[in-house]
Parts: sequence; C-alpha cells; structure tokens
Amino acid sequence: MFTVGYYQFRPHFGKVGRNLKHVIKNLSGVRADLLVLPELAFTGYYFRDREETRALAEDPARSNTVEALVRLCREQDFYLVAGFAERQADKVFNSALLLGPEGLIHTYRKIHLFNQEKDWFDPGDTPLSIRQVRGARVGMMICFDWIFPETARSLAVLGADIVAHPSNLVLSYCQQTMLSRCLENHIFAVTANRFGKDVRPQGELKFTGKSQIVAPKGVLLHRAPSQREMLYLTRINPDEARQKDITPRNDLLADRRPEFYRILSERKD
Ligand code: ACM
Repeated sequence: MFTVGYYQFRPHFGKVGRNLKHVIKNLSGVRADLLVLPELAFTGYYFRDREETRALAEDPARSNTVEALVRLCREQDFYLVAGFAERQADKVFNSALLLGPEGLIHTYRKIHLFNQEKDWFDPGDTPLSIRQVRGARVGMMICFDWIFPETARSLAVLGADIVAHPSNLVLSYCQQTMLSRCLENHIFAVTANRFGKDVRPQGELKFTGKSQIVAPKGVLLHRAPSQREMLYLTRINPDEARQKDITPRNDLLADRRPEFYRILSERKD
C-alpha cells in the first residue's frame, strides 16, 4: 500500500519565505509516501506582469525554497510534488517539482498556460514523463492541463499509476472532470488546489479549493471543502491502476486505434 495525500492551503502573494514556513510547519510530523501541494505554492498566482513573475521565480538548482523542501523530505522520509515558479536564464516556467530525500528528481513545466499566464510564463518545453516513487509510477500535470484530455492520456500511456495535479483553479469544472480522466485512463489523480484570494492592485482572483483524490474507476475518494485549509492522506494500491480491462474483451489502452486519431498530432492554429 502507498500513502498519498494533499495539502490545501492559502499562499500569501509574494511572501515566499512565509508560505514555505507555513508548509514546513504543517507537514512536519506527517507520515506519507507522496504529498501534493498546489500550483505556485510559494509565490502566489496573480502576478502583475512578467517582471514580477521573474523577480519571484527561482532556479531550483540555487533555491533556498527547494533546499528547505528537500530537507523536509529527508526528515519526514516522504516525496513531494510542489507547484513552483521556475526561472531559467531569460525564461520563466510554471512548473511542478518532484522532490524526495535524494533531492530534486524531476521538473515538469506546464504545457497549457491559462489566460494571463501567457503573459507571465513561457510555455512548457519538457516532455510529459513519469518517475518511480516507492514502486508507484507518478506523472505530473498542472491545473489547466486538465481541460486537454491528451495530457492525462499521455501520462497513462507512459504508464502512470498516479497523476499528481498541483492546481490554482478559478473555474468550477475541473474537479468533476477529473473523475472522467481517471475513469477513461484507470489512474489515480491527486488534485491539490489552493483556496482564498490573491488581492492585487490589478484586481482579485478567488480560488476554488475542493482538492480531491480520485481512484481508477472514477471514484471520488475524498474532496476538501472549498475555503478551508486541509491536509488529507489516504492509503491506495497503485497496482489497481495497472488493470486496464473494462470487459473481458476490452482494454483501455490496447483497444485504442491511434491510426484513426492522427489528426490529434496536427496543430490547428
Ligand atoms: C490554472 O490553470 N491555474 C487555472
């Protein structure tokens, strides 16, 4: 069995150190295999412009935030997926980091940017991929990636058992839709959303909370309240995600007919 969970909280915009302290305080003493934090968990979300995003972003290879999180993983002996504003030379990515006792294991850069994120970030440029965490195969996607079913499908075809899904959701459709993503791919998904508002000079944005964990048959194992802090853990069997049969004669992945979907690999501008 594998203990997976999420921590739903309310980051304070621009207060990276304060948000980090809050996370460390609340995850100290937690026993888990894998915990998922929201998108942009330390910077907040509603940037004024790209300059502000760049100023708050960090290079994970030289980041006090990452060092502190790796120390936490070592002390607690767990793995974390955390949303992270990533700076690399003149680029800025909306990323998710997979961290563990051994350090930074993988960085996923969000490929489908939402609305004004197109002003703040560069589009992700790393392939979707999966990593082993204590025998479970973990893939990452970020928030708005949910509306492109190709994202979760690609992770499933790559062999993901669990999709870690850091989010800062402002629309209300994602949580329900993720039940379908899990059913059609027979995967687990952990959507870690934030709650509260970012109140900025240009306006305010409210986030929808309701973080959740969904099992391969599209079964909702747990959903958090909308506007409340919540740390939730549950035990799952990742092997359940390896059974792709729907009937004795239907297999979710083997029965696909990619030769009829070639249109999906063409761009429509
Ligand atoms: C989103 O992708 N943060 C809505």
